[in-house]
Amino acid sequence: MDNEPTANTSTGLLAGKVALITGAGRGIGAAAARLFAREGARVLLAARTEDQLKSVTQEVRAAGGTADYVVCDLADADSVRAAVDRTVNRYGRLDIAFNNAATTIPPGPLDQVREADFDHVHAVNLKGTWLAMAAEVAAIRATAGTGAIVNNSSVGSLRGNPELPVYGAMKRAVNSLTESAAITYGPEGIRVNAVAPGTTLTEMIRAWNDATPGIVEHLNALTPLRRAADPAEIAEAAAWLLSDRASYVTGTVLRVDGGVGA
Ligand SMILES: NC(=O)c1ccc[n+]([C@@H]2O[C@H](COP(=O)([O-])OP(=O)(O)OC[C@H]3O[C@@H](n4cnc5c(N)ncnc54)[C@H](OP(=O)(O)O)[C@@H]3O)[C@@H](O)[C@H]2O)c1
Repeated sequence: MDNEPTANTSTGLLAGKVALITGAGRGIGAAAARLFAREGARVLLAARTEDQLKSVTQEVRAAGGTADYVVCDLADADSVRAAVDRTVNRYGRLDIAFNNAATTIPPGPLDQVREADFDHVHAVNLKGTWLAMAAEVAAIRATAGTGAIVNNSSVGSLRGNPELPVYGAMKRAVNSLTESAAITYGPEGIRVNAVAPGTTLTEMIRAWNDATPGIVEHLNALTPLRRAADPAEIAEAAAWLLSDRASYVTGTVLRVDGGVGA
């Protein structure tokens, strides 16, 4: 299709910014690391799997960008705070953060969800995001002074989500944290927004498609643009929201979903 992004050009959208990106070892976070660096940001990549972080970091550096990584488990509060500290220690400041990392659980009705899975998705997707936001606000305030945060939500947070009810509930709670933080930190110049991706071709959606064969095809048929997103297309929206070009945008949950929520 001729409207898919192909250009690897830079407009300096994030020039001079220091960015923390969670879940940057693969999928949307890795695409964000490549894009933010190409747009001039110095990036710090965080996730659990070191070999993936290393490989994306090397790729960014090979393309002329500035990148480093920290191993971080969002389910561990000290580890989240250490990742934010590492960004400030490495680059001297924090301007922007993309809280992108999340996990999922097997699809199915809510009475079939295992309690341990509920607790894990709660710890990573909701509590981990809250921990990161709190540490990032403190770091932005102490260094850059003003800045921006984008959380990665999901179009599956906006309505009932019978296939992934707990995942949907945690993402809806992330939207609430996003809106509350926008109100709290707006007066000091820290903007907080979320992106709500639709079907995006990453390991996460492939796992869902393995558990529910044909789900991607089904979702694409419901999507006005009739296809899934490339991870870079979600990263583009996050980059814009994190940039000064979105200077009057805060507290929004931006659907990047091929129109499926229209
Ligand atoms: N793909 C879609 O269709 C879709 C749609 C809507 C929303 N989203 C959202 O988009 C975001 C990115 O997902 P993706 O599709 O790119 O998935 P992905 O390919 O599975 O990537 C998820 C990233 O998060 C990291 N992560 C998972 N658990 C973590 C933990 N406990 N601590 C730290 N990092 C952790 C993973 O690294 P490690 O496993 O190495 O830690 C990985 O880097 C998520 O918030 C997801 O909910 C995706």
